Amino acid sequence: MELPPRPTLFDFHGVSMTRYFTDNWDNIQHFEARPDDILIATYPKAGTTWVSYILDLLYFGDTVSNSRSSVPLHEKIPFLEICVPHRPTGKDLADQLPTSPRLIKTHLPVQFVPKSFWEQRSRIVYVARNAKDSAVSYFHFGRMNHIQPEPGEWSCFLQNFMQEKMVFGSWYQHVTAWWEKKQTYSNIHYMFYEDLIEDSRKEINRLCSFLGLSPTAQQREHVRSKVTFETMKENKITNYSTVPTMNHSVCPFMRKGTVGDWKNHFTVSQNEQFDEDYKNKMKNTALFFRTEI
Ligand code: PPS
Repeated sequence: MELPPRPTLFDFHGVSMTRYFTDNWDNIQHFEARPDDILIATYPKAGTTWVSYILDLLYFGDTVSNSRSSVPLHEKIPFLEICVPHRPTGKDLADQLPTSPRLIKTHLPVQFVPKSFWEQRSRIVYVARNAKDSAVSYFHFGRMNHIQPEPGEWSCFLQNFMQEKMVFGSWYQHVTAWWEKKQTYSNIHYMFYEDLIEDSRKEINRLCSFLGLSPTAQQREHVRSKVTFETMKENKITNYSTVPTMNHSVCPFMRKGTVGDWKNHFTVSQNEQFDEDYKNKMKNTALFFRTEI
């Protein structure tokens, strides 16, 4: 496949976006959600793939007789807004999903989510990750994924992150606006990457309660064993090794999978500047993130 050109950012209704996530806009906005759809919503790099695989295993299992179990996760769980030349759009893939429920991924800020999800009262799992590790992960993702803008040097990327010039816009606005939405829309389960790292058993149990699932203890343990970082890194279904726009020799998609890798990237002065700016941007929210555990 010929690689699409690296996109540039532009302002889209007040949010930095690229054409690969806006070219199919009208169709996306008219997406017809169903009451049993489950939307997995995140700011990029928050653990979308991790939680997606947990939900896929909880709902559909991975027995060899299940033909679905060898299909890459990004095909089974379409990325709603993606629209890259010569590939089916995420919207079309979602429309064609034969499963019930349909699991659908999005990075859209809450104000851009198609209204049918709210009208149908679909359940939404939102995953959030601390800003510093999100920025680091996003930087490396930009290096390896051709459909992201050129990330440039780390220092420059970090400034852009703080200035909210990222694909899908501001991390600060994304996590806080989804948090606010949760206060009025009860079908959102808001979870944190750091909690999953700390205690995946507890987080899987909480997900099951939210979704009304009651797997046996043995099934839960099976899911846990399949979703460890090491196992997912080796698994072709989850490691994105089949995606032509990603160059894993630059950096693997399944890169580190830890809390606190930011310490290996931020200088002391970058960290001070970031903290100062963070305090200001997050001063009106009760939302709290852990940058180490
Ligand atoms: S994307 O492109 O936005 O959908 O990426 P996303 O899946 O949200 O985030 C990728 C980061 O999540 C890490 N990851 C995991 N960490 C721990 N355990 C498991 N099982 C796991 N699966 C994915 C992945 O390594 C990326 O983080 P970094 O820090 O870059 O390693």
